[in-house]
Amino acid sequence: MATSTSEPADQASADETHTSDETFNFVVVSNRLPVDRVTGPDGEESWRRSPGGLVTALSPVMENNDGAWIGWSGAAGDHLAPFDEQNMHLHPVSLSEEEIQLYYEGFSNGCLWPLYHDVIAPPEFHRTWWDAYKKVNRRFAEAAANIADQGATVWVQDYQLQLVPKMLRELRPDLKIGFFNHIPFPPLEIFAQLPWRKAVLEGLLGADLIGFQRDSDAANFRRSVTRFTSHNVVKNSIHVGDDQGVPSRIARAAAFPISIDMERINELTARPDIQERARQIREDLGNPKYILLGVDRLDYTKGIRHRLKAYEELLNDARTKVGDVTLVQVASPSRERVEQYRLLREEIESTVGRINGTFDTTQHSAVRYLHHSYPIEEMIALYMAADVMLVTALRDGMNLVAKEYVASRIHDDGVLVLSEFAGAADTLKQAILINPHDIDGMKEDIVKALTMDPEEKSRRMRVMRRIIATNDVEAWSKKFLEALNSDLDV
Ligand code: G6P
Repeated sequence: MATSTSEPADQASADETHTSDETFNFVVVSNRLPVDRVTGPDGEESWRRSPGGLVTALSPVMENNDGAWIGWSGAAGDHLAPFDEQNMHLHPVSLSEEEIQLYYEGFSNGCLWPLYHDVIAPPEFHRTWWDAYKKVNRRFAEAAANIADQGATVWVQDYQLQLVPKMLRELRPDLKIGFFNHIPFPPLEIFAQLPWRKAVLEGLLGADLIGFQRDSDAANFRRSVTRFTSHNVVKNSIHVGDDQGVPSRIARAAAFPISIDMERINELTARPDIQERARQIREDLGNPKYILLGVDRLDYTKGIRHRLKAYEELLNDARTKVGDVTLVQVASPSRERVEQYRLLREEIESTVGRINGTFDTTQHSAVRYLHHSYPIEEMIALYMAADVMLVTALRDGMNLVAKEYVASRIHDDGVLVLSEFAGAADTLKQAILINPHDIDGMKEDIVKALTMDPEEKSRRMRVMRRIIATNDVEAWSKKFLEALNSDLDV
């Protein structure tokens, strides 16, 4: 069992690997560690818990189970010893600059990400990227094999690590292995493009339980398994055959929609300083009648261009006017060395510049564009200030921003405009559901949101808040882990 470990020992020799004698009964494996390195004003480096659903979802499970987390620090060439931070045992995996280019920016984000998001951007298929993906996945699998107790539960996360379940099972057949895919799983006809489709499916099928965001993702996966492997699929169970094709074990695949930490958001929305900050934000924006809000990683899947187009046309058509309305767009920097992301940033920023140049007044901005990440406290204040939240993703695994907005509307007011292509649309049916490709439709729906009567707003919001309160992130991880540790149908 775990005992306390050392501080990060930085910059060991390039090929040194840190082995550990400690073993753990519960191990999470994800591309990134749940902490980010921050440099203080005095130049001192420390770690801060990363924002985001996965960390909040899993950190209580980690604490209760004395678990360990395996992941990459986010920097090239780090060779860090295991360390404890935020009540978690962290086991860093190192990536070289070249591996970051080929495995992370290349295969994960230049091939799988666009392929799994409806080929919104063209995926690239390079054998050198695939080779690096295999090599790095093996490194993560070995790290997990080294620190898992006999019979431990290992939970592998997301598309960057799809080969880990099979590699890990080969090394450690005694383990219970779960996998959760945070992004969509594409329809067979799109997945078919992947030259390594069979290896990816076999990689995932190393898990006992494979979780997806939506029923449609799980169904897409099972269809691809039927089409591209020889394993037999019966409802949600896949009878995985051994090398001779004899069924040797069962892997299950089903939907487990992820959610948010409702309790934490309740604490934050009750804080007077955050409520005051929400009032301040409205004042800083010149007290418009309506604040529209978009919060996204700056990613081409999020439909930011479509949203800006609809908004610009509404201003052009004089269906609304600056002063009455302001759009706050938080676009947090993301994957900035990947070409598609660089191009997107240029396009968004020139569009915002054009809209503001045309419609700004000396007192008011049409779009307040913020290319930053903010701490959760500031995000909650923004959600509390915003009259309408615009989630216009062209494809999105879940979209936790939509759920956070609903959770923050403690007075049951505000309107959520939500793309039907986000996983959250399966749960939040009382939102105004939109097709972001239909610009005219989106314009009508934004006007509908701005003019909705208070009773209807409140009725819709109340239902959505109740749904999230009973399906929060704790319920999500509990449900997944209970299913993983039982052999029942899912
Ligand atoms: C999505 C993915 C995560 C990823 C996050 C941020 O939510 O599902 O796995 O960590 O984006 O992207 P990044 O490439 O910065 O880790």
